[in-house]
Amino acid sequence: MTDQASRLRAMARQQVPEATLFSSRVMAITSGKGGVGKTNVVAGLAMSLAQMGQRVAVLDADFGLANLDILLGLSPTHTLEHVLRGEKVLEEIILDGPMGIRVIPASSGIQELTRLDTSAELRLIQGLQRVSETTDWMLIDTAAGIHDSVIKLLLAAQEVLLVTTPEPTSLVDAYAMVKVIHLRDPQKPIWLLINNAQSEDEAEETIEQLQAATRRFLDRELKVLGMVPADACLLQSVREQRGVVERFPRSPSTLAFRQIADQLKKKVPLQKDGFASFWKQLSLGES
Ligand SMILES: Nc1ncnc2c1ncn2[C@@H]1O[C@H](COP(=O)(O)OP(=O)(O)OP(=O)(O)O)[C@@H](O)[C@H]1O
Ligand SMILES: [Mg+2]
Repeated sequence: MTDQASRLRAMARQQVPEATLFSSRVMAITSGKGGVGKTNVVAGLAMSLAQMGQRVAVLDADFGLANLDILLGLSPTHTLEHVLRGEKVLEEIILDGPMGIRVIPASSGIQELTRLDTSAELRLIQGLQRVSETTDWMLIDTAAGIHDSVIKLLLAAQEVLLVTTPEPTSLVDAYAMVKVIHLRDPQKPIWLLINNAQSEDEAEETIEQLQAATRRFLDRELKVLGMVPADACLLQSVREQRGVVERFPRSPSTLAFRQIADQLKKKVPLQKDGFASFWKQLSLGES
């Protein structure tokens, strides 16, 4: 980092007095294997939190196939890349989703975050600080798997939510993901969510299997959030490009999302200056 870069960063932070640094919670949603339901979990939890009166922003950081926008019936015209290039300010690319959820399309641009020039960095931190003033939660939808840029996002976030299905392949890849995070940051809170389970028993068995492995080989416990059942209503809502929480308010998956959102609100601590510290970790790779 150059002297000029650190000076500009310090300036950017100074422009926001300590008293106005807002508390928020930054949670990255991940999985070892792809296709296990991350994006649906992000949408389901975002909507449930919104229904509870929380202000939610979603960072769509899946640089593979970004499909959160499709899932929510949104059409982004610009992405984070335009902000970094100085063509747009952050507020101009943010999409208004259902139930007041704001979506930041970052599927292109997110990989460049770790090698920004100082003026791009300044634009981004100032934008994020403005957004954080009106946000209680930032949920980050990531690409699956152990790619370096995904791991950087996970390590920068305050909390990690790991999604797995009961399938053995998904479970093995979930363990691999826990191991990678744990080796880089043993203190990082990792929450476990079992998706697409056929029954409570199946979900509990899956949780126990994963916990047994992490206890034995990593000497750690995962924080268990709960399960979302396999639900035909969720499938139908995906087809209709509507969030299941909105489309089928009484479906089994909606009820599960509501319960899990409630747990999150009770258990995840507020982080002072959560947005800015996420950015700082990401850009400096401090983890
Ligand atoms: N609880 C569920 N009940 C029924 N089907 C589900 C459930 N969760 C996910 N699915 C199915 O799995 C598909 C993939 O879900 P989703 O796109 O959320 O996964 P993902 O982990 O984000 O995938 P990717 O790794 O490609 O980003 C959904 O389109 C849906 O068909
Ligand atoms: Mg996805």
